[in-house]
Amino acid sequence: MTSPAPGLGSTDTGRGQSLYLDLMKRVLTNVIYRDPPISWAGQGDYDIALRENGSDMPSVAHTMVGLARLDNVQYCLERVLADDVPGDFIETGVWRGGTCIFARAILRAYGVTDRQVWVADSFAGIPRTRVDSHPLDRRLQLHRENDVLAVPAETVAANFERYDLLDEQVRFLKGWFRDSLPDAPISRLAVLRLDGDLYESTMDALNSLYPRLSPGGFTIVDDYHIRACREAVHEYRDQHGITEPLEQIDDYSVYWRRAGLALPVRSLAITGRMAEFSVVSTYARTIA
Ligand SMILES: C[S@@+](CC[C@H](N)C(=O)[O-])C[C@H]1O[C@@H](n2cnc3c(N)ncnc32)[C@H](O)[C@@H]1O
Repeated sequence: MTSPAPGLGSTDTGRGQSLYLDLMKRVLTNVIYRDPPISWAGQGDYDIALRENGSDMPSVAHTMVGLARLDNVQYCLERVLADDVPGDFIETGVWRGGTCIFARAILRAYGVTDRQVWVADSFAGIPRTRVDSHPLDRRLQLHRENDVLAVPAETVAANFERYDLLDEQVRFLKGWFRDSLPDAPISRLAVLRLDGDLYESTMDALNSLYPRLSPGGFTIVDDYHIRACREAVHEYRDQHGITEPLEQIDDYSVYWRRAGLALPVRSLAITGRMAEFSVVSTYARTIA
């Protein structure tokens, strides 16, 4: 069972928060009703191992990231709340919205009213590659999967509503990242979650948003297993002298914590599931 982050609630309240968030993860990944994967992904029946690792493309579930990556979102958000790292949560590339719905649930669970969840997507799928697109993006041609990847904003909003989590703390940023992100009215971010698959989508998000990430904030890279995305991440890190180690989440994804936060003493004591996660992260293979 998940324990609350230090300073985030009394024991009884913490139990209720943990129970709610654990159930949210199960519902969002649909390990409850166990929908089969979409058939084009070449997978057969529902398989819990695939759903835990975010390896299949669910036909019904509201997210494809799987349980381990939702645990990571919870870890990052609980950590920034416990350490008073200022800023909002954003996901660039939301599909049916499940990961953002979970972020909003975490803020609701802890009674946080001064942070936003930014939901950034074209809501029309992956951009078509152009002649001047990065060669790795041109090779991927991912826009050919837009019949599955394009989910209208109205559907995503309706998904938030099903959990009673659509309110003024949820902000939609509609459009291609290159157009929607540079002037997005976001002043500070605490968690930046990249899930746009392509070199272009990853680089556009990093260029616009990483400068707004607070010290002590987290960058999560869902698509690190895709070479195009990985190239963008390393290029950006090299260009900006970012040396914080990459921590592995599961077979696909990594994250790093931005340095520079002066930690208050209370945040040094980590308990419960967060402690487990820290141990996992510490000993996880660091991918350079
Ligand atoms: C793999 S899906 C995201 C999965 C999602 N995070 C989840 O929880 O299931 C990728 C999403 O990125 C969006 N996307 C990719 N590149 C984009 C870009 N350059 N601009 C806007 N949206 C983009 C697609 O529309 C799609 O919804």
